[in-house]
Amino acid sequence: MTLIRVEDIAKYEGQEATVRGWVYNRTDKGKLVFLLVRDGSGFVQCVAFKGDLEEHVFDQVMRLPQESAVVITGPVRADGRAPGIPGGYEISVKDIQIVQVADLDYPMSLKEHGVDFALDNRHFWIRFPSQWSILRVRATVMAAAREWLDSHGFIAMDTPILTPAAAEGTTTLFETEYFDEGKAYLAQTGQLYNEANIFAFGKVYCFGPTFRAEKSKTRRHLTEFWMLEPEIAFCDLDELMEIEEQLITHIVQRVLRDRQPELCALKRDTSKLEAIRPPFPRMSYDQAADYLIDLYQRETDPERKELLKFEWGMDFGAPHEVELTKLHDQPVFIYGYPTAVKAFYMEPWPGRPEVCKSVDLLAPEGYGEICGGSERISDYTLLLERIRKEGLPESAFKWYLELRKYGSVPHSGFGMGVERVTAWLCGIDHIRETIPFPRTIKRVYP
Ligand code: 4AD
Ligand code: MG
Repeated sequence: MTLIRVEDIAKYEGQEATVRGWVYNRTDKGKLVFLLVRDGSGFVQCVAFKGDLEEHVFDQVMRLPQESAVVITGPVRADGRAPGIPGGYEISVKDIQIVQVADLDYPMSLKEHGVDFALDNRHFWIRFPSQWSILRVRATVMAAAREWLDSHGFIAMDTPILTPAAAEGTTTLFETEYFDEGKAYLAQTGQLYNEANIFAFGKVYCFGPTFRAEKSKTRRHLTEFWMLEPEIAFCDLDELMEIEEQLITHIVQRVLRDRQPELCALKRDTSKLEAIRPPFPRMSYDQAADYLIDLYQRETDPERKELLKFEWGMDFGAPHEVELTKLHDQPVFIYGYPTAVKAFYMEPWPGRPEVCKSVDLLAPEGYGEICGGSERISDYTLLLERIRKEGLPESAFKWYLELRKYGSVPHSGFGMGVERVTAWLCGIDHIRETIPFPRTIKRVYP
């Protein structure tokens, strides 16, 4: 008996193989029972014929509830699969061991479920082909990102989750009591620690969960999300954009190479992803603002006009980002945002202090911001001034300021949101499906 993973089943066509998994669906046709079995790596149709099995076994197979655990052995052959189910192979059941007969009241039977119900049952929902596909794409996004950075001289540096102060605005902090030390906060970013790490390692990245008490309920915000953050010494904004476009292109290509069955199950139009290649278009905030103001002025529908309202100095809302992404089939860089809408640590634009050396990367097809980054302030006095102006606790930033005294150099970095990238690559609407157990303003369960 050769134990195989369904993922590798093509190699076993014509041979006898054993799979271990769970019954995702069962259909009976008289002397035939079709079990759609998933083993974690894929889905495979298993056909039990009455004549091939002992009568009491066949009787049991005929009544097997959804989610029962089984070990099945039989010959493998190619087969045409119903759309929406990854796979394409069939096993004739010559032997079946029933490891557990599932209870009959499985909450996530195969019908449409409302999203709240599905999220309450997330521990079961992840077994669905759609969710399984999305989460496998997510894993590949993460693996591909590490693969590219590890092979381009970046050193992985884990940064703390418990931190002494805000880094990305004081309004979205999760706070906790920290023994006798007063308050600590869940990290909004690992960036500030990465800025220390680059002076020891040159190029680094951190990759972990980050937390924002986002009060807004949107399809692009979670309160706990995973961010990949590269940081590079001796790097300006132009060099940063080159790194970003290389990294993103690598991720897209790896997903296209390794996750075809999943993208197919999700009915993703992959031609749009196949077209992604550097260099990505670059647009200044000023150019983007001119375009949006013109769009706003020409809009005649009052409702849409309200949504598209824009003037120089505003941050982009989702509708503005959507309009900007419509201009290109590629991800687009928008650089040089107003200083007032960005974080305190961003280097001012030379000769234009009202603008900073920031850059966001917006994904096409209306997906919007997937990466946010900047050149960092490298001057001690200016950084101190910004920390004071922001009302941040100086004592908590002492070490961060000191970095500007001993070997300070121009340096840059960015953060990539794993869930946003995964949503774009999968072509899905809401990022809550791109993480195994999403945390949103109204949800910490399950
Ligand atoms: O633009 P952000 O806030 O940038 C930073 O935190 C920087 N310190 C990163 C850096 O330069 N090292 O966040 C970066 C990315 C966003 O572009 C977005 O993809 C994702 O993180 N992101 C979120 N994803 C899901 N839910 C949220 N609430 C998110 N906030 C940011
Ligand atoms: Mg941002």
